[in-house]
Amino acid sequence: MKISAHAVGRMVGTWREGPGPAHQRLSDRLRLLILDGRLCLGAALPGERDLATALGTSRTTVGAAYRTLVDHGYLATRERARATVRLPHEDAPAGRRGDGADAGGDSEGIDLSFAAPPAPSEILHAAFATALERLPLHFERHGYDRYGTAELREAVAGWYGRRGLPTSPDHVMITNGAQNAIGLLARTLLSPRDKVLIDHPTYPHAIRAFTDARARLLPVALGPSGWDVPQLLAAARSAQLAYLIPDFHNPTGMYMPASVRRSLRPACPTIIDETLADLGPEAADPDPAVDPAAQPFAATHSTAISVGSVSKSIWGGLRIGWIRAVPVLLERVAGARPATDLGTPVVEQLATAVLLDGGQTRRPEALLHLRTQQDALLGALAEHLPEVHAPRAAGGVTLWARFPEPVGSRLAAIAPDHGVTIAAGPRFGVGGAFERHVRLPYTLPPARLTEAVRRLAAAHRALTAGATGIHTPAAVA
Ligand SMILES: Cc1ncc(COP(=O)(O)O)c(C=O)c1O
Repeated sequence: MKISAHAVGRMVGTWREGPGPAHQRLSDRLRLLILDGRLCLGAALPGERDLATALGTSRTTVGAAYRTLVDHGYLATRERARATVRLPHEDAPAGRRGDGADAGGDSEGIDLSFAAPPAPSEILHAAFATALERLPLHFERHGYDRYGTAELREAVAGWYGRRGLPTSPDHVMITNGAQNAIGLLARTLLSPRDKVLIDHPTYPHAIRAFTDARARLLPVALGPSGWDVPQLLAAARSAQLAYLIPDFHNPTGMYMPASVRRSLRPACPTIIDETLADLGPEAADPDPAVDPAAQPFAATHSTAISVGSVSKSIWGGLRIGWIRAVPVLLERVAGARPATDLGTPVVEQLATAVLLDGGQTRRPEALLHLRTQQDALLGALAEHLPEVHAPRAAGGVTLWARFPEPVGSRLAAIAPDHGVTIAAGPRFGVGGAFERHVRLPYTLPPARLTEAVRRLAAAHRALTAGATGIHTPAAVA
């Protein structure tokens, strides 16, 4: 696939900002786009002259940036052909791979690119033991079910009921995580060139699901004072779909107050992502940023399409999520589903039903742990990176940290050399926005978080002193 110079120009955004020589900033930015998958493997980049013209820079700068990428294995070149995107061979030391396997080791990298807590092992073990006992009841059937098992659909309906939103199981479809739900909805509801309203910043894999459906994005800023209702309503009038995360938004951790929920009536179909809804403050330790009067969005907007998951409240490895919507819409989704998957594993569904029925998605001790971990992360930032502004999150698992300078991408690029992997701000937006931001999850124990921030501060010092390095991919959850 050939990528035009203008498309690359849009993707690199504000590449000129920041310290160091221009060719290095450009190669760092291109490398990050490759690692993020925004420049996909095999894509043919524009020629040096065309890209230089589109970026308003010299051909020497583009040539030097391309050469750096070739030297580090991110571009393949052939004579008289465009350079194509590739990845270096997997020969980097394990601690620098950022593959999520190394979150705990001392000499190895600390992975802050994933915002997901570890599994509650005993609770999970017990739920699977019960699930295995119940499994034989399903053996007589073929095991393919696009809507999910009756047990789990009832349990999800019960979860909504306890949150103040009476729900019938026939309004629930079980999916392979919330991401699968978002992807299925995108494919069902969108046509090429449709517009999708998103919070800005927002969850990056949702952005990906919408752009893969060839939709255009309509970002509406989610600023420090929260959701801007007039802007959202205006944008919704020209959108075919909206996607919002009102409950402990990823990446900012913000919570939409009841008054905003009531007045926000988008004119287009609206997906409400409640993946983090259970990760609010514990009753014994309430947070003033969490409005106790707020109900699930669909309680006041009967047409809202809700998406949920146990990935953050229990464990990402379960891969269980769901859609709550009117049955006619679920039928359309079920019709689109076989193109990508034919249902959800039964044992995981049975175990999740046990966990939901037992109220295990809101465990007071887990919520207090998150609180302590957030405190530790904020404390470490205040000590080691005092220039960073990181507002306390009302809930969820992440802080949205802002540096005084636009260093997000470059910091993410060199941080693994200092033993920590992070997700840069631009992953959470469009058009190269949020270059001053990074997302920092607080899902590790306090001592690891403190060490991670210490390493990040070292990376930041190296960056401001002009040093850079090379790293290998980091995903985002
Ligand atoms: C807001 C949001 N939606 C969806 C997902 C994907 O969840 P799942 O692991 O259930 O696919 C995540 C994971 O980070 C998320 O933060």
